[in-house]
Amino acid sequence: MIERKIEAIFRIFEMDELSEEDRQLVESAKNATSGSYAPYSKFHVGAAVRLEDGTVVIGSNQENAAYPSGLCAERTALFAAGAQHPDVPVVALAIAARKGKRFLPQPVSPCGACRQVISGVEERYGCPIRILLYGTEGTLVSEGITPLLPLRFVENDMNV
Ligand code: THU
Repeated sequence: MIERKIEAIFRIFEMDELSEEDRQLVESAKNATSGSYAPYSKFHVGAAVRLEDGTVVIGSNQENAAYPSGLCAERTALFAAGAQHPDVPVVALAIAARKGKRFLPQPVSPCGACRQVISGVEERYGCPIRILLYGTEGTLVSEGITPLLPLRFVENDMNV
């Protein structure tokens, strides 16, 4: 038997410790919650994607009476970026969530399906995506998806 340990490094920042562009991306994610359509969960999530050329694309969760037909904010934003700017790599993704008017104190973490899509976008453009998870008590930053999705399934796994 071999035991392997996987370490994950995250950093938690106050807003004034973030770079100007990261702070703006978090603000865009917070603002994007206003486009959330969440009559069922009442959980309003916003996401903002920054592309290599500085373009910011936003998304928010969009729900449906048939629950699985809705989509999370992260995938809404990433798919919109892919559709509108297919040749420009994604370099950062910020996420924020609120219940009613109050943003959550602790960062909201992407669901498993969104993690897999973030992983796919990293593969597509060949560069890690800086992930900023906003909470009023601090913004958790992950350099790439690997700390959030160790042992991830990638395209190369099919080429064995
Ligand atoms: N949701 C997101 O948009 N992103 C997340 O990271 C977690 C969950 C949405 C899906 C659904 O509309 C609502 O939040 C409750 O799960």
